[in-house]
Amino acid sequence: MKNICVIGVGYVGLVTGACLADLGNRVICVNRSKEKADNLHKGILPIFEPGLEEIVQRNYEAKRLDFTTSYDKGLRDAEFVFIAVGTPSGSEGEADLSHVTQCAEDIATRLVKPIIIINKSTVPIGTGDWVADIINEHRVNDVEFAVVSNPEFLREGSGVYDFMNPDRIVLGSTSRQAAEKVAELYTPLQTTTIITDLHTAEMIKYASNCFLATKISFINEMASICEALGADVREVALGMGSDRRIGPAFLGAGVGWGGSCFPKDVRALAHIAATHGCHPQMLRAVMEINQDQRKRVIQRLREVMGNFRGKTIGVLGLSFKPNTDDMRDAPSIEIIHMLQHEGAQVKAYDPVAMNNARKIMPQLTYCDSPYAVADGADGLVLVTEWNEFKQLDMGRIARSMRQPILFDGRNTYDPDKMKALGFIYRGIGRAAISPPAA
Ligand code: UGA
Repeated sequence: MKNICVIGVGYVGLVTGACLADLGNRVICVNRSKEKADNLHKGILPIFEPGLEEIVQRNYEAKRLDFTTSYDKGLRDAEFVFIAVGTPSGSEGEADLSHVTQCAEDIATRLVKPIIIINKSTVPIGTGDWVADIINEHRVNDVEFAVVSNPEFLREGSGVYDFMNPDRIVLGSTSRQAAEKVAELYTPLQTTTIITDLHTAEMIKYASNCFLATKISFINEMASICEALGADVREVALGMGSDRRIGPAFLGAGVGWGGSCFPKDVRALAHIAATHGCHPQMLRAVMEINQDQRKRVIQRLREVMGNFRGKTIGVLGLSFKPNTDDMRDAPSIEIIHMLQHEGAQVKAYDPVAMNNARKIMPQLTYCDSPYAVADGADGLVLVTEWNEFKQLDMGRIARSMRQPILFDGRNTYDPDKMKALGFIYRGIGRAAISPPAA
């Protein structure tokens, strides 16, 4: 059992803290908000993440997991401290490191015994060295420390599963010994561990997210070509993805990628590259295609609806993907904004993200069910593919609409079935005319 301090109780911090406690360690999570800490003591989590509440509760009751606003308390016995604070985008697309800086200073002034500082936040290449400089500059006691970069690859919505079943653990440090000590924390997970230098570990995180975003933008570009040529992008993805060199993951065409990671990380790597004299042409194209993908929803709807003035459009799903209440950079925001800008009345429903959505889009009509969204609408757009939407009585939906126009932004429904129910159906990258039956 190791003593671990985790700074930050967001998606990465809380999942890391709770899961490390579940692996048998004693973990204390530090954050600045008293309200969040008080709530966590009562079992109320600041985020929605499937399975997390149960792990938090179990480990809190077993006294392996605790929460505090006090850095002193958090660091007193810690052998390891994880930095898991936010790195939002700055005005130029660069990563804003103010939270990481503050965190490093707070650690430095409280160091009382040797410690390994592990960075889990996604930070620009070179930040590990810089954290070490801050510690050296601000530490009040002459204690030994090492900095390790340990990028996190978990996805929101499946964070606990991803933490417990990683494809690999990446550790970068100037101290091989420190990296090996961190590797021991993950031994129960029995996975491949890659130990490298700090810069390379930091780059692996950006390169991974950028590649995944590239795969999605690629398939979205293929979708546009499929539409023009009368092919079906879902089958194209299946055919391509069956090649082991390509792989089937992240080939789902849709309204584009969003969330708190891909948009910020692709922008940040493009910014870092440009400031170091490189020309990140591919990253720029990847972002541009993603932006266009949101506009395409409006263009395609216009083709069937004419203009939107005085029309009511229903939106199913608001979060940036299913199983999360996270609205950061959600495609729904821009799509709704464009519809409203062109005169549409928009009403929407999301199983869990409506509270967060209200803070960003107070002017929307929020409904208590998908059926209420469709009722009397001139068009319906599915933006987020929650499971709940796959089981709807689509016949009832079609009958309740003023015009049964369905834009399926995630290719969730069967076009032929939707047409049989009376919908004017449009998907992403799917032929307008169905191929002949085999
Ligand atoms: C992403 C990465 O997948 C994680 O490995 C990484 O740890 C995380 O960022 C991070 O940097 O913290 P996440 O943002 O939670 O995870 O969500 P994803 O499941 O990757 O989805 C991102 C976006 O891509 C969503 O908007 C989703 O709808 C979209 N997407 C995903 C597609 O449009 N098509 C696909 O086939 C897959």
